[in-house]
Amino acid sequence: MSGEITFTIDGTEVRGQAGQSILQAAAMASIYIPHLCAKRGLTAWGSCRVCTVLVNGRPQAACIQPIAEGIVVENDTEGLRAMRRELIEMLFVEGNHFCPFCEKSGNCELQAMGYRLGMLAPQYPYFFPVRDVDASHPDLFLDRNRCILCARCVRASQELDGKNVYGFVGRGADKHIAANAANGLVGTDAAVTDMASEACPVGSLMKKRVGYAIPIGQRMYDTKPIGTDIESGSARAQAGGGR
Ligand code: FES
Repeated sequence: MSGEITFTIDGTEVRGQAGQSILQAAAMASIYIPHLCAKRGLTAWGSCRVCTVLVNGRPQAACIQPIAEGIVVENDTEGLRAMRRELIEMLFVEGNHFCPFCEKSGNCELQAMGYRLGMLAPQYPYFFPVRDVDASHPDLFLDRNRCILCARCVRASQELDGKNVYGFVGRGADKHIAANAANGLVGTDAAVTDMASEACPVGSLMKKRVGYAIPIGQRMYDTKPIGTDIESGSARAQAGGGR
């Protein structure tokens, strides 16, 4: 087929289409590459680096690296698992992620990734940053303590909702998510039906009055690790495409 590209991931032959990223082609082949800032339906962002793979021996972010004929991709190796675990640990210590009482617990991709990668107590000291919560909106709240700066809400607002509700302000350790209005979220055109509020992988952008609605044991990652949908092929079937 024209445009078809053949390469390998961990020794398995994978066929993809020209223009696909390694992450997309892998998902089509039911191969899970851990990722956080990437989300199906959104433009790739390439910030979290959790999707790092080795391409012909060199580290690349699978969500933004296009496939090419004959490349040799390493994904599920002990070295890459350790690196991803360390990235997740850094995200945990950099923010304030108190899983036991977080509304997103059990449905949180960061937490689920920590479990999948076998994270135990972080080896780095906790920052315990002081960050504020924007609860000004009647139906939504923005808890910056839990934000991992993945920009999924920023992209979903622009690309799916046709709005421009969220953006980043500040630099370095001061960088944080903000609502595009002087008086916070309430001053924007954010709505509870926006795709942006579905896009947050953690408990940062949440709907009010729905926390803890799903009992423990029935939450998304209570029984199946993150990535199971891709490994079983169900994500591909639902989407009719890649990730
Ligand atoms: Fe690729 Fe975040 S998923 S850099």
